[in-house]
Amino acid sequence: MPEFFTVAKVGDIPEGEGRAFEFNDQMVAVFNDNGVYRAIDDMCPHMGASLASGHLEESVVTCPWHSWSFDTRDGTWCENRRLTIDVFAVRVVGDEIQIATVEKPDDEPKAASDPSDAEEKNCGCSGSSCKSQPADPPNSEQENG
Ligand code: FES
Repeated sequence: MPEFFTVAKVGDIPEGEGRAFEFNDQMVAVFNDNGVYRAIDDMCPHMGASLASGHLEESVVTCPWHSWSFDTRDGTWCENRRLTIDVFAVRVVGDEIQIATVEKPDDEPKAASDPSDAEEKNCGCSGSSCKSQPADPPNSEQENG
């Protein structure tokens, strides 16, 4: 069972925005996504910008420096879904927003690479700001019969 810690109060994070909080010696970006709170690593793996100050649209945050996009629901980098950043469990207890570390089966940090290295372009996120949105649904080539 993860141990939750209070990082903010309801009302501290305006709807559609994020704020960065220190948690376990790292900065965590907590977003208010239409009343749903989500938390990811605040540090963009490209060059270290604070993702909390990025533009949030349809659960996807776009880094304010060079526009890399991450799905706040699962930490997926929209240019290559095999690269993820840390995601934290979030709960609201009373008026307190609490986060906890999520255990991962593979705890090895995954290094970011240049976007041109991306082999996979369909992140599956629904953010309209996501540059990897496929023109057609990923399963559009299913055989009939
Ligand atoms: S620092 Fe985030 S995209 Fe460059």
